Amino acid sequence: FQPQELSGKHFLVTAGPTYEAIDPVRFIGNWSSGKMGYALAEELAARGANVTLVSGPTNLSTIHPNINRVNVISAEQMHQKCIEAFPHTNGAIMCAAVADYRPESYSDVKIKRKSDDLTINLTPNKDIAAELGKMKTGNQVLVGFALETNEEEQNSFKKLKSKNLDFIVLNSLRDKGAGFHHDTNKISIIFKDGEIEHFDLKSKVEVAQDIVNQVVRFL
Ligand code: C5P
Repeated sequence: FQPQELSGKHFLVTAGPTYEAIDPVRFIGNWSSGKMGYALAEELAARGANVTLVSGPTNLSTIHPNINRVNVISAEQMHQKCIEAFPHTNGAIMCAAVADYRPESYSDVKIKRKSDDLTINLTPNKDIAAELGKMKTGNQVLVGFALETNEEEQNSFKKLKSKNLDFIVLNSLRDKGAGFHHDTNKISIIFKDGEIEHFDLKSKVEVAQDIVNQVVRFL
C-alpha cells in the first residue's frame, strides 16, 4: 500500500460561473462550463486530498467521494462559502468565472417590458481570490486563473501580484481549443518570480494534472 501524495491534505476549488439575479426570472451570467475546475477537483481527490468544491451553476457531476460539493449561485454566496472553508485548507485553486458586477438592486417582482430603454445599475462584487490572498498563511498555496485577450503575460502577472497568488494559470482566448466549453485547454503558468512555463494543447483532465503537479511542488 502506497500512501497517496496528497492524503491528509485539504483543498478548496472554485468552479463554474456565477449568476447575478436581476429579478425572479432573470440574471447576468457568463459562458463558463465549470469543466476545468471539476477536472482539478477530481485530480486533487484522485491523489488523496479532500476537496471542497464551491461551484456555481453547471451541468456537471462530481465522481470522487472525497469531493464535498457546495453549490452556490451568486458571487456573494461563493465569497461566503470560500471565506468559511479556506482557513481549514492547505490551499485553494480559484477557477470560477466570478461575475465582476451584480445588479445594484434586486426586483422581487418581474420587471415589465416597456417601449423605452431600461438601465440596470451594476455594483462591483468582491474579488474572492484577493480576499483569500489577504487571509493566506505561509503554509497555504493560492492559485488563480486568468483569461486574457491581449497583453496576456503582463496582465496575468499584475493579477498574481495584486491577489497575492503563488502562481497563475493563463489561458488566452486567442488559442484555438482553449477556454470556455472546450474539452481542451492550452495554458501557461506564471510564477511569483516572473518565470513562465508554457504547455501544449491538452485535454482539461491532463491540464489538471499539470496544475496539480505544480501545487504539489509548492507544498
Ligand atoms: O481579475 P480577474 O477576474 O481576471 O481574475 C481572475 C482570477 O480571480 C480567477 O482565479 C478567478 O477565479 C478569481 N476571481 C475571484 N473573485 C472575483 C473575480 C475573480 O475569485 N470576484
